[in-house]
Amino acid sequence: MKLSIIAAHDPNMVIGKDGELPWHYSEDLKFFKRTTMGYPILMGRVVFEELNEKPLPGRENVVLSRSKIYNHVKTFSNIDGALHYLKDQEKVFVIGGGNIYKQTIDLADELIITQIKNEYDGDTYLVDYRDDIGTIWYEIWREDHPEFTFVKYERISKE
Ligand SMILES: NC(=O)c1ccc[n+]([C@@H]2O[C@H](COP(=O)([O-])OP(=O)(O)OC[C@H]3O[C@@H](n4cnc5c(N)ncnc54)[C@H](OP(=O)(O)O)[C@@H]3O)[C@@H](O)[C@H]2O)c1
Repeated sequence: MKLSIIAAHDPNMVIGKDGELPWHYSEDLKFFKRTTMGYPILMGRVVFEELNEKPLPGRENVVLSRSKIYNHVKTFSNIDGALHYLKDQEKVFVIGGGNIYKQTIDLADELIITQIKNEYDGDTYLVDYRDDIGTIWYEIWREDHPEFTFVKYERISKE
C-alpha cells in the first residue's frame, strides 16, 4: 500500500485555524477531489467534524479517534489498527489534520502539497518537510497557479 499525504499549507506551514481551513480556493478543492477520488482517505476526528461527520463520497472514509466511535464510518483508536485495515489497498490518502499528518509523515511514501502563496493566521501547522527536500523527498511534479503551486514529492529512501 502506498501512503500519500495530501495537504495545503501557507509559507509559514499554517494549515488550519479554529478547526477549519483558513482559506477557500475552489481550484485546490477540485484538485483534492480528483486526486483522492476512488481511494480510501484517513483523517483525524477534528477533520471529520469539519465535514459535519458526513463521509466524503466516492472514497472510503476512515476516522481516527480515541473518544468516539461512529456507526457510519470505520473508526480506529490507533494508527496501526487503521493502517492494518487498509494494508491491501493500492493507495491511501492521509487528509489531515495537523495531528494526523505529524504521526504519519515518517511512514508516508508521497506528499501531495498545495503551497499557498499568501500568508494566513493559523493555529495548526504541517510538519516542515522542506528541510528534507533532496535528502528524504524529491520533487517529481509541480504545477504553478497565481495563488498557489501544486507539488508532488516522493520519498527517496525510508531513513
Ligand atoms: N490545509 C490542509 O491541507 C488541511 C487538511 C486537513 C485539516 N486541516 C486543518 O487542520 C485542523 C485540524 O487538525 P487537528 O490537528 O486539530 O486535528 P485532527 O488531526 O483532524 O484530529 C485530531 C484528533 O484525531 C484523533 N487522533 C489523533 N491521533 C490519534 C491516534 N493515534 N489514534 C486515534 N485517534 C487519534 C484524536 O481524536 P479524539 O480527540 O476524538 O480522540 C485527536 O483529537 C483544522 O483546522 C483543519 O481545517 C488542514
